[in-house]
Amino acid sequence: MIIVGSVRPGRVGLPIAEWVRGEAEKTGNFDIDFVDLLELGLPFMDEPLHPRLQQYTHDHTIAWSKRVAAADAFLFVTPEYNYSYSPALKNALDFLNQEWWMKPVGFVSYGGVSSGTRGAAALLPSIVGLGLVRVGPNVELTFGGKQVVNGVFEPQEKELTILGHELAELARLATGLKPLRE
Ligand SMILES: Cc1cc2nc3c(=O)[nH]c(=O)nc-3n(C[C@H](O)[C@H](O)[C@H](O)COP(=O)(O)O)c2cc1C
Repeated sequence: MIIVGSVRPGRVGLPIAEWVRGEAEKTGNFDIDFVDLLELGLPFMDEPLHPRLQQYTHDHTIAWSKRVAAADAFLFVTPEYNYSYSPALKNALDFLNQEWWMKPVGFVSYGGVSSGTRGAAALLPSIVGLGLVRVGPNVELTFGGKQVVNGVFEPQEKELTILGHELAELARLATGLKPLRE
């Protein structure tokens, strides 16, 4: 599952995530569920009970739960906002609990000069809390918006290489962790 973390008008997250999807498809290792949080349209977390109980009361939560439960690996495409990651992504994470557990996750972060790395670092406590397993290589795009030309993200060679390593590790961990959840 690829999650587009930003929902702002004019966001550069969507073309970056589309590049990621294209590269993931080329590997032939993934059956991709592409989640645009703007399209998904979750409200602010509105479940009365802790998600670990999975006693969901809203159709949007039940649908989101089924979708995440069906995924074996995640790639979060997230901007850096004020030294952290996108609130839409945090909200989508908070809705669920066990559905994320013991599944691998990689980040493609982007921002200004920081390349979104402070945002990605801020993700780590939530990742640990949910039992997600982070892969080693993560793509970090410095001023990634400048690489979007006519709505298409144009990667540098090193970014293609790192994404390749990241996708390979995601595929290996997706296979390796699956039996541990059963
Ligand atoms: C509210 C806001 C806060 C931001 N804070 C940071 C920041 O702390 N560090 C940084 O490097 N870039 C920051 N930026 C720049 C964004 O990371 C950059 O514009 C990015 O392209 C935004 O992603 P999006 O277009 O997908 O929403 C910020 C942008 C916005 C809108």
